Amino acid sequence: MNHKILYKNSQEEVTNLFTYVFTASEGGKEGKLIGNLVSELSSKIDNQKIICFGTYKKDSIIGAIFFTHLLFNKATKIYMLAPVAVATKHQRKGIGQTLINYGLNELKNRSVTIIITYGDPYFYSKLGFQTLSENVIQAPLKLSMPEGWLGQSLTEEIIPAINGRPTCVNEFNNPIYW
Ligand SMILES: CC(C)(COP(=O)(O)OP(=O)(O)OC[C@H]1O[C@@H](n2cnc3c(N)ncnc32)[C@H](O)[C@@H]1OP(=O)(O)O)[C@@H](O)C(=O)NCCC(=O)NCCS
Repeated sequence: MNHKILYKNSQEEVTNLFTYVFTASEGGKEGKLIGNLVSELSSKIDNQKIICFGTYKKDSIIGAIFFTHLLFNKATKIYMLAPVAVATKHQRKGIGQTLINYGLNELKNRSVTIIITYGDPYFYSKLGFQTLSENVIQAPLKLSMPEGWLGQSLTEEIIPAINGRPTCVNEFNNPIYW
């Protein structure tokens, strides 16, 4: 198994992975929704505002994760982790956690200070994420599940309160994802 940085030329394999995985776990409608999101995100990968890492077994992609920039009024290096998927038949073997930790470490090496995600608090608490109040950091759009708003500092500092609503990358700028 190996990890690598992915670029736009991986759009098709990454889109297929997310479409299959989310169709299997959440049904066809969600599979299509996340597949479309990933198709758009992967067509815009620039390894700066939109970063993607993949896990490969031999030459087959079995996992992928996106990190996208959150823009605040003040200069900060804050990214959002979403979405992430591991091929259905390879789930629950530790591959997802290894991929997420790989991504967090890569971003730490790029001087990113805070990672935010929006998901299952039980799963992400195993990876160092804690519930994040919107009094500390607001979400770009209105959250339908505020308890899923989670954050982690990649430095020694605790997450500071930051004024103002951040801007997410265009691809996430749709209430359907929030
Ligand atoms: C979530 C996901 C990325 C985790 O990857 P993974 O390789 O299966 O996870 P790991 O083996 O590293 O970690 C196992 C933990 O993941 C969680 N998990 C994995 N699959 C799960 C499922 N189907 N339901 C609930 N929790 C699940 C559990 O907390 C599990 O720990 P446990 O077995 O002790 O309960 C993967 O299961 C997946 O792609 N799921 C479908 C898509 C999805 O939900 N993505 C996350 C939201 S963007």
